Amino acid sequence: MANKTIAVLAGDGVGPEIMPVAVAALEAVARHGGHALTFRPAVVGGRAIDETGRPLPDETLRAARTSDAVLLGAVGGPKWEGLAYEQRPERALLGLREQLGLFANLRPAKLHSELAGASTLKQEVIENIDILVVRELTGGIYFGTPRGVEATPTGRRGINTEVYTTEEITRIARVAFDAARARRRRVTSVDKANVLESSELWRQVVTETHAAYRDVELRHMYVDNCAMQLIRNPRQFDVLLTTNLFGDILSDAAAMLTGSIGMLPSASLGASTGMFEPIHGSAPDIAGQDCANPVGMVASGAMLLRHAFGLEDEAARIERAIQRVLALGYRTRDIASPGTRVVGTRELGDRLLEHLDG
Ligand code: IPM
Ligand code: MG
Repeated sequence: MANKTIAVLAGDGVGPEIMPVAVAALEAVARHGGHALTFRPAVVGGRAIDETGRPLPDETLRAARTSDAVLLGAVGGPKWEGLAYEQRPERALLGLREQLGLFANLRPAKLHSELAGASTLKQEVIENIDILVVRELTGGIYFGTPRGVEATPTGRRGINTEVYTTEEITRIARVAFDAARARRRRVTSVDKANVLESSELWRQVVTETHAAYRDVELRHMYVDNCAMQLIRNPRQFDVLLTTNLFGDILSDAAAMLTGSIGMLPSASLGASTGMFEPIHGSAPDIAGQDCANPVGMVASGAMLLRHAFGLEDEAARIERAIQRVLALGYRTRDIASPGTRVVGTRELGDRLLEHLDG
């Protein structure tokens, strides 16, 4: 029996609407399996700015550090967009990733066959896609220095720096190769080695790391080509290994193949506490309307059970419930198609809970 604590950071926008659905699902499967989960809510992002003046209060960071896992909703919104860069809600997310050392971000993009009609792409293109994006999460241009905006005699100059070290590349490449071993054993490493030196190093180090994984097939691809191939023939991909920035962009594209960005969960892993969150943002345009898709959030809860606690049966139970509810035709409006039944966030959550014990 597991006895674990989860820091619950609902955040902004649709975060507070989808989080209760995930918490209820986690509670139900834990109870069923005889495990005790303690949930520790903490403020983060815009809400934390409003309440404490800072996007990532010390207390929230402490709650995250001292819990066994972190479940995060979403951060950000128009209300806080005018703030100085260091005070924006997004800094909380980047701060958590950095402070918890969460260098490996896993974003599985798998098509539920029932949703083939919800994608903007043709059914024959997206059928059976099952891609794992392995995104480096604590390096690259997101964190590189120098950075900033400076005044020059002829106007301002904005600077960001793409930096990768051998060590950073090796450890994320290992995560991708290890993940591929449990899948179809194919890794596509995505870079821009024809233009960027940091990418040239990326390609070399990934190739060197591959020497210990001869049973896995490795292919290199330029990021522009990868963007095209994801739309042209996504079935060619198994594991996509890439940098922080390219992974941010390509995982949104991969998400749309599955019907909606609202579907995709993610796990951010490092040496200690892992963080689990849907890949979508706070969606302020639909917040408060009970129409957000909670599936990415709930599926993030399943990833938490699997990766942080090793509770595979409980994780699978949640994933089967998602499958069933979709098969029964229940949809939030982002994934609606003719002949399906559109319900709100709460009702989809209720249907999920009903189908958790199978
Ligand atoms: C994501 C998001 C974040 C990122 C933002 C909100 C900082 O887009 O998790 O993909 O760019 O990493
Ligand atoms: Mg993103």
